Amino acid sequence: MKYFFILGNNPALSLAEVLAVIKPKSYILISEEFLVTETSADLNPLTLSTVLGGTIKIGLIKEELAISSYKNKIEESILQIIRDRQKEVASGKFNFGFSNYSNLDFGHLGLKIKKDLSSLKINTRFVVSREKTLSSVIVEQNKLLRKGVEIVFARYEDYVILGETMAVQPFKSLSYRDFSRPARDDKSGMLPPKLAKIMINLAEADKDGLLVDPFCGSGTILSEAILMGYNNLYGLDLSSKAIDDSFKNINWIKEQYQIEPVSIKFKVKNVLDLSKFIKVNSVSAFISEPYLGPQRGKIEFKSVIKEIEYLYTKALVQMYQVLEKGGRVVMVWPVFYGNKFVNPNIGEFKKISILPDNLKNEEIKKRINQRGNIVYGRAGQKVFREVIVLEK
Ligand SMILES: C[S@@+](CC[C@H](N)C(=O)[O-])C[C@H]1O[C@@H](n2cnc3c(N)ncnc32)[C@H](O)[C@@H]1O
Repeated sequence: MKYFFILGNNPALSLAEVLAVIKPKSYILISEEFLVTETSADLNPLTLSTVLGGTIKIGLIKEELAISSYKNKIEESILQIIRDRQKEVASGKFNFGFSNYSNLDFGHLGLKIKKDLSSLKINTRFVVSREKTLSSVIVEQNKLLRKGVEIVFARYEDYVILGETMAVQPFKSLSYRDFSRPARDDKSGMLPPKLAKIMINLAEADKDGLLVDPFCGSGTILSEAILMGYNNLYGLDLSSKAIDDSFKNINWIKEQYQIEPVSIKFKVKNVLDLSKFIKVNSVSAFISEPYLGPQRGKIEFKSVIKEIEYLYTKALVQMYQVLEKGGRVVMVWPVFYGNKFVNPNIGEFKKISILPDNLKNEEIKKRINQRGNIVYGRAGQKVFREVIVLEK
């Protein structure tokens, strides 16, 4: 089956996440944001949209029309997609919309289709926006997935691709978790839930394996891991307030989302003592946003970098001891002012490149830094996050 994925605002990281989760037989990046994958098994786009942190839309490729003749065929192909979909949804007005991810101009195709449908006695509304593509908010608000359809267009070499969107990122639920959780710690900073999901997916751990966040703060990574079906978790932090916060937030997640019972432990501990209370070779993955230095005021980065390198180097030695063979550490390391990196010693760990070496898309390649890593953040931020994946 062929699916498309519309990648989020850090497309390199989103691509790495999709490849880690679905492991496609083959894939093509049509543009920086438009990924087409081929898998042997069917995917479940709705479930995937709740698992992936970096993907905006997921859908099925329905048609590939040769560029030489698409103008004669596209109207009929779209009518077919709409009529098939219209048979599946309850009666009433049927909404449809287009997102054009290509540089082709389809003129007044939407209005033509609306007319065609009206002559077939199908009552429709054509949803438009100012942009060439509909945002996932517009798709959701206009019920295009539940009671209508969104058709996407892309161009690949000599073909025009038509796809049907099957799921969009659950943006309401993600921001609800980000802003409504009962315990927040704006002082030491909180990881965006989307990035937490990406990090969890990059660990490629088994659902029953032990996941540890040794700098758990208010528990963002553990909360997302529970929602993604991981059921054996351990949260550690030096601060007892952080452990209380994590506890409150996890209980809130369990209540809000009616989660099945999971095994989750918390302890107030220093990461540098890990191997004193966690068994050797027992951890499947460490996934963590560690201490990133002071969040406020001017950063004396020379001394902060020294302090962080010391902490991470020692922490990695501890993690290596208790991690099982093949287990991964997924961390974010700070990049101060966008260009001042930290260089802890990774010891015997193997560094993993999260994107394949043979990437052809130049735009994506530019997003990989000189250290072979991808950085997450927005222009103007003081502290960016460099995503690091290590393997024992
Ligand atoms: C950036 S915060 C983690 C935030 C978390 N990802 C969240 O979203 O809530 C870093 C955490 O590391 C903890 N920490 C700092 N040094 C530590 C150490 N040596 N051992 C364990 N935890 C430590 C801090 O107390 C803080 O809660």
